[in-house]
Amino acid sequence: QNEKDSQFIVSNWAKDHYQKLLHETEEGESIGLSYLVQRGLNQATIKTFELGYSLDQWDDLLKAAQKEGFEAKYLEKTGLTIVREDDPNRRYDRFRGRVMFPIHNVSGRVIGFGARTLKANDKTAKYLNSPESDIYHKSDVLYGLFQARQAIRTEEVCYLVEGYLDVLSLHQGGIKNVVASSGTSLTESQIRLIGRYTDNVTVLYDGDAAGIRASLRGIDMLLEGALNVRVVLFPDGDDPDSYIRKVGDQRFKEYLDKNSQDFITFKTRIVSQEAAHDPVKKAEAIREVLQSIAKVPDPIKRQVFLQQTSTTFAIDEQVLITEYNKLVKKDS
Ligand code: CTP
Ligand code: MN
Ligand code: MN
Ligand code: MN
Ligand code: MN
Repeated sequence: QNEKDSQFIVSNWAKDHYQKLLHETEEGESIGLSYLVQRGLNQATIKTFELGYSLDQWDDLLKAAQKEGFEAKYLEKTGLTIVREDDPNRRYDRFRGRVMFPIHNVSGRVIGFGARTLKANDKTAKYLNSPESDIYHKSDVLYGLFQARQAIRTEEVCYLVEGYLDVLSLHQGGIKNVVASSGTSLTESQIRLIGRYTDNVTVLYDGDAAGIRASLRGIDMLLEGALNVRVVLFPDGDDPDSYIRKVGDQRFKEYLDKNSQDFITFKTRIVSQEAAHDPVKKAEAIREVLQSIAKVPDPIKRQVFLQQTSTTFAIDEQVLITEYNKLVKKDS
């Protein structure tokens, strides 16, 4: 039995342990489960994603693991426990008093955890995540992909959201082809992962400044990965989870259909918001769009996008292509 297998086994055991605590202890039910229910999640969703709860104690998991006979080094390597600074022979649980979101690989094995605090003014981070290990590479993982992969194939599009709760709420609302980048900026390996299932991605990031910035970055990376990209913007202050809770499943789906825009239209609107009557800003906006088009590997698609940009901005196509060629040369 090798190193990785042991880490898979202890992670899967921890997932079972956290699940039991959520459903079968007084603390788990009254604090963890009631929180999830208050966030609008039902039993089916909680089960499908194998959500759990970690007790608000220093060594609950540690003790239970010792009782099971797990070697301390595997708890350490998977980041479930942390070595004490004042005494390197002693350890404590990393996750305490939090709702636990197991992170699965594409074959459904648990490789790590996200953990949300339930305290209103927690001084520590809202979410804690497992550290890198032999089985968990944050940058290679998309949360929810295991539960989404069939739907991504049949729907022929992957919805990309920021957070755990966004995945859960959309899945529960019948939109099962959804995965989360988990707040970090998208990586090449995450994009390749999506590309195994579909060529089409619709970005549903939070409707705040950070979400828009992340969308713009994500778009260019997705384009470079040869994917077709659309974007849906949510009202400022909303994310997909809060929005679907607010308007309901049916209206949410209508909103997606009505408000999904291709990346050129999205970028054009974002970069030219104040540029309407300002030729200098308009020129900048056009160059921004051209920069994105330059990322598209397929020359035919590039050509189509250039035509579309020329129409959108009412700029002669030849002028635009000349400008595009200048830009590309400058970059190489
Ligand atoms: N995230 C993280 N660590 C943090 C904050 C966020 O890892 N300290 C990741 C989580 O995966 C989180 C995602 O970034 O789900 C999006 O962050 P945010 O929008 O702040 O949280 P929500 O997912 O909206 O969570 P909630 O609705 O519970 O506040
Ligand atoms: Mn790897
Ligand atoms: Mn956010
Ligand atoms: Mn949220
Ligand atoms: Mn959010």
